[in-house]
This record gives sequence, C-alpha cells and structure tokens, in this order.
Amino acid sequence: MALSNSEETDNSVHYTQLPEHNNGSDNSSPATKCRRPKKMTFMILTGLVVFLLFFVAVKYGNYEESTDDVNPGPVPPQETVCNMLGSNLMPLTTMTMLSRGMAEGVSAKSRGQFLGARRFPWTKKILAWQRTSFHFQPKKNWMNGPLFYKGWYHLFYQYNPEAAVWGNIVWGHAVSRDLIHWQHLPVAMVADQWYDINGVWTGSATILPDGKLVMLYTGSTNESVQVQNLAYPADPSDPLLRKWVKYEGNPVLVPPPGIAKKDFRDPTTAWTTPEGKWRITIGSKVNKTGISLVYDTIDFKNFELLEGVLHGVPGTGMWECVDFYPVSKIAENGLDTSENGPAVKHVLKSSLDDDRNDYYALGTYDATAGKWVPDNPIIDVGIGLRYDYGNFYASKTFYDQEKKRRVLWAWITESDSEAADICKGWASLQPIPRTIKFDKKTGSNIITWPVAEVENLRLDSKEFDKVEVKPGTVVPLEVGSATQLDIMAEFEADPKVLERIDGSNATYNCRSGGGSAARGALGPFGLMVLTDSGLSEQTPIYFYIAKNATGNFNTHFCNDLTRSSEATDVRKLIYGSTVPVLQGEKLTLRTLVDHSIVESFAQGGRAAITSRVYPTKAIYEDAKLYLFNNATYISVTATVKIWQMDSANIQST
Ligand SMILES: *[C@@H]1O[C@H](CO)[C@@H](O)[C@H](O)[C@H]1NC(C)=O
Ligand SMILES: *[C@@H]1O[C@H](CO)[C@@H](O)[C@H](O)[C@H]1NC(C)=O
Ligand SMILES: *[C@@H]1O[C@H](CO)[C@@H](O)[C@H](O)[C@H]1NC(C)=O
Ligand SMILES: *[C@@H]1O[C@H](CO)[C@@H](O)[C@H](O)[C@H]1NC(C)=O
Ligand SMILES: *[C@@H]1O[C@H](CO)[C@@H](O)[C@H](O)[C@H]1NC(C)=O
Repeated sequence: MALSNSEETDNSVHYTQLPEHNNGSDNSSPATKCRRPKKMTFMILTGLVVFLLFFVAVKYGNYEESTDDVNPGPVPPQETVCNMLGSNLMPLTTMTMLSRGMAEGVSAKSRGQFLGARRFPWTKKILAWQRTSFHFQPKKNWMNGPLFYKGWYHLFYQYNPEAAVWGNIVWGHAVSRDLIHWQHLPVAMVADQWYDINGVWTGSATILPDGKLVMLYTGSTNESVQVQNLAYPADPSDPLLRKWVKYEGNPVLVPPPGIAKKDFRDPTTAWTTPEGKWRITIGSKVNKTGISLVYDTIDFKNFELLEGVLHGVPGTGMWECVDFYPVSKIAENGLDTSENGPAVKHVLKSSLDDDRNDYYALGTYDATAGKWVPDNPIIDVGIGLRYDYGNFYASKTFYDQEKKRRVLWAWITESDSEAADICKGWASLQPIPRTIKFDKKTGSNIITWPVAEVENLRLDSKEFDKVEVKPGTVVPLEVGSATQLDIMAEFEADPKVLERIDGSNATYNCRSGGGSAARGALGPFGLMVLTDSGLSEQTPIYFYIAKNATGNFNTHFCNDLTRSSEATDVRKLIYGSTVPVLQGEKLTLRTLVDHSIVESFAQGGRAAITSRVYPTKAIYEDAKLYLFNNATYISVTATVKIWQMDSANIQST
C-alpha cells in the first residue's frame, strides 16, 4: 500500500516487544483472521484470550507492504486500557502496530503506529474534555450517508457496536429535524446474510419519483468479495425508517471481469439518464488508475455496465466513496442529482484510498456517453483540489429537497492513539454538515460552508474591532472559556506596504514552510485557538502571503498542529493549501472550535481545514484564544466576532 502523501504519514515505526498480558474476560472480541504477513516475522500471544498481537519487524522500512494483509486482532476492554494509559504500566508500544480495515479490503481505519510513541500519562479528566459538544457522534464506539425523508434528516453511518475501533461494521442510524440536534435510533442493518456477513459497508439512497426510497450498499461477502446489495424500507410510511428489508435477490452487482474482488465498493445515489433509466457509478481501480464504473438500471435489481468509465486518473489508486452531482453556475440553490443543462457543472469527488483525502474536480458531464471531463486536467480528481486540507475523508453529499441545497457529510477520524480511543470509549465524528455551492466569483472551485442551522447554537458574542497586531506579537481575546466557539475574523494588511515589498517566499508551502514559528515578511498571522496562557500548547490557524518576483500574490491558508498538545502519542501535522483571494477582498476566516475538533474556512469557504487536536493543558477554563502575527514586516488589523456555542442535544432512545 503506497502512502503517497508524506505529510500524512510517518512510517518510521519502531516496534518494541510487549510484555505478555491476559485479561481473562473478553467474549466480545471480533474473530480474527490472521494471514501471514509478507515480510515480517511475527508472534501472536495466545492465552485464555488473545490480548495483544505484537510484531517484530525484520526491517522497519517494510511497514507499508506488510500491513495490508494482516488483521490487527481483538480489542482489549476499556477499563484495562484506561488503567494502563493513566499509570506507568503502559508499555512503550501497545496493542497493535497495525491499521484496522486493510485486511478486509478497505482503507486503513486507524493508525497503530502512534501507539509506538513515547508514553503520555492521559487522565480521565483530560480524555473527557476531548469529547465534542455540538458535533454528531455516537454515544460510544466507532463511526464513519444521509437523506431527508418525511420531515426528518436521516444519517446512516458505519458503526462498530462492539468497540471504539474499526470492525464488525453495521449501519448505525440517527435522525434530526435540523442537522444539529439528533436522536439515536436502533441499528438499521446488520451483517446477517452471506453477501454482507463481513460488513454492511457504505451505501447511498435514491428517492424515486413516487417518494419511495431505495438503498444500494456494499456488502463484503462470506468470501470477502465486495458486492452491491439492494435494501428498502420495510414501512415507507414510517418517517423514522426504522426497519429495512434486504432484497431476496441480493447481490445485485458483483465485480465485473477485470476488477479485483476487493476493489468494487460504495455505490452512489442514482440519477436519471436521457433515456429515462437510472444511472449509478462505483469506484474501483485498474492497476494504479483510479476509475469510476457506470451502470444503468430500471429497477435497481438488474444492471447494465456501460462501456468505458465515467472518468479515471492514472496514479491515483483505488477510488472509494465516489460522489457525482451537479452544481448551478448561476443559481444560489443546490441541485437535485438528476439535473443537467447549460447552466450546470458537475463535481466528481473521490476518496483516495492511498492517501485518505477527498479530492474533487469541476467538469462537464456527457449524459449520452456517460462520461465526465474535467475543466482543467492539471487539477483533475486526485491530483488537484480537496474539499478540506485537514482530517476529512469518505464524504458524501445529498440533495436536501426541503431547503433546496446540497449538503456534505464526512468522516473525521481520531488522530490520537487507538489505546486512547478505547479508553475514551468513542472514536470518529461528523463535521458540521456543509452546504456546497459553485464559486461564481472564481469559477474554478466550490464553496463549502457550515449549514446555517449551526448558528442557532450561538450564545453570547464579543466583538473586537480593528485590533492592530504588530509583527511578532500576540493579542489575547478575552472570551472566557474558549472550548466551544464560532469565530469570524477579518484581516487587513496595508496594501501600500504589500505593494512596496519585493518578492518574498514565492515557493512557500504550508506543509513544508516550517509552521507558524517560521517568520516571513508577509506572514504568518491569524488566530491561535485552544491555547493555554503560557502558550505551551497552541493551535494556530493562519494566512501567509507570498509574493513572486513579478509581483503576483499567492495566499496560503494553514493550520499548524505541531504544538497543539504536549502529548507525545498524537499526530501533529501542518495542514494547508493556497486559497484564491480576489482583487479588493479582505482575508477572512471562520473557525468552529468544539473541544477536540477545529473546523476552519478561508475566504467564505473556498478552502477548509478540519483538524483534531488533543490538548492536555489548554482545556476546560484554561483554553484561551489569541490573535498573532509572526510576519517580520507587515502589521495586520483584525476584526473578530466570537460566539460561545451551546451544546447540541443528542439523545439516545
Ligand atoms: C458463501 O455463501 C454462498 C451462498 O450461500 C455459498 O454458495 C458459498 O459456498 C459460501 N462460501 C463459503 C466459503 O462458505
Ligand atoms: C495492468 O498491469 C498489467 C501488468 O503490468 C498489464 O499486463 C495490464 O495490461 C495492465 N492493465 C491495464 C488495463 O492497463
Ligand atoms: C512566532 O515565531 C516565534 C519565533 O520563531 C515562535 O517562538 C513563536 O512560537 C511563533 N508564534 C506562533 C503562534 O507560532
Ligand atoms: C521566507 O521565509 C523564511 C522562513 O521560512 C524567512 O526566514 C525569510 O525571511 C522569508 N523571506 C522573505 C523575503 O520574507
Ligand atoms: C508570478 O506568478 C504569476 C501568476 O502565477 C506568474 O504568471 C509569473 O510567471 C510568476 N513570476 C515568477 C517570476 O515566478
């Protein structure tokens, strides 16, 4: 498995042998199927119950090749893990060095290697703070597609009912009136048929013209073949869609000739063809070319494979969770999936299994041929734009017919250790759902923005008007506890000064630019969230302006996590990208802070960065907010409005 994005991965894993440990009472562990790793010697500790799987690498460098075929094994009980985490009993390496999911034929769902880092004494109080208050997450355990039906928004999600790690995947289900407050419902579908016994994976709903619903989903069969299955509500008159029926003729699609059995998953919502049929697309790959296969159907039971593919991009690897939908070039509202015409562009999105990011491109769809071409091949799917430059994967959109908008969901993973997840008792969450629009001003990107309903959680606000932030300074923004916030900020730099300066740092790049501590003439400057008063933990979100020798400006939008936590066993990357800034525009930033999730949007949503941060000091009343300017030359003026955010009401049944 190639992990191509060096920013995202750290393969310098050190495997240390673990002491034997039996816990004696675990019947809920998933069955393990260990296949022989290709280039590793390994030992499996068995006792009454297998607790730890550990691996001694012959060569440290072979991590990439050796993990994709191995199951990391059972999950130890929460209490055991918590006790170990909080005490000195925690061995240097713990449960597993392996990523969950890959042996089953999906992308890696957790990164065991972080467990190999130095020990940090996590306490229950620190871990409890990390749980979010206004983001949707299950009461416990792991989660990972959405619709509106008879007055309710439904979220079906990939869920492990047994543990806070990936495995035993079923469909969790929650409903909401407003996409913010949720009610958990019983699990919608479980793995109980030969065609989905290894997992009820991702699917998509299609609402038929008569208002009925059909659901296509990927099942992993008793032989680990990825197949597509049909399901529908048992009682279409139930607005809560509590019971689902699986079609007796499943599977309705199996991998076609030339497609490997583990490379065929995540069917899209269907749209109509000029001939009045339904059309779907399914991600796959041929060698290293990521592709999307196209099928037509009349009844969702019998399918016809179209010749060629919707689109493919060499070198991008397996395409997961492909999404395909129209956006309007002129209207403000979103479009239903079947709409097309001269005022429409089509977005094609793929989640790249190889680097675990969601890439999209704008282009033109030829409905007769069933093909899509990008507007600009230089920024084709998988090599150009992303929905979000942080931690954001496996997203899906749906058309909200009630509010006439297209809404984006995603799966935001943890970036702490698996042991901390087990001790916290939960892992992964949803971002605040985002509306998607075509950016009429630039014409070259989409805009993503938190749904307006989140603003109903805004409580007291404070405004700071035209605060001058001089080069090399920080300015505290006194807002009380800065744990749950909605922040809107605008930054201005004197245009005459920008004009005057010669070229500076034209080759800057957020990821390699040294973070917020590397000072250039025109940046970085921005906000520091989740920062303690001693500035020992800080999460800066910032702009960095670069000017090239011919006087062109390029604005970078970044988030530096390298000092976000004193814990040693969490992932601390620098995220970012460039963001288009048009003539006369101020630099604008919106950031939603909700405990361990920080979602930031630049220039009204032209670029977004979601990050997971796990502070150990900048928590509870010690979480503060600052402005900073680390430019050496320009001074900036900031106008900031900050709301405290209420918690969402997320009820269990
Ligand atoms: C998987 O299930 C199918 C359908 O019941 C059956 O024909 C096949 O033998 C099963 N394969 C295995 C390995 O059990
Ligand atoms: C995939 O790679 C194999 C081996 O290099 C080659 O024989 C085959 O033609 C390739 N398939 C396609 C569709 O390019
Ligand atoms: C600004 O730069 C200085 C010097 O590199 C560094 O110590 C400080 O932490 C930086 N501030 C931020 C917010 O990164
Ligand atoms: C470019 O950035 C570096 C730090 O990354 C800084 O030392 C240097 O002064 C900058 N150059 C200019 C011209 O701003
Ligand atoms: C500066 O950037 C502009 C716009 O990207 C480009 O056309 C120009 O060639 C660049 N100049 C230099 C010296 O890199």
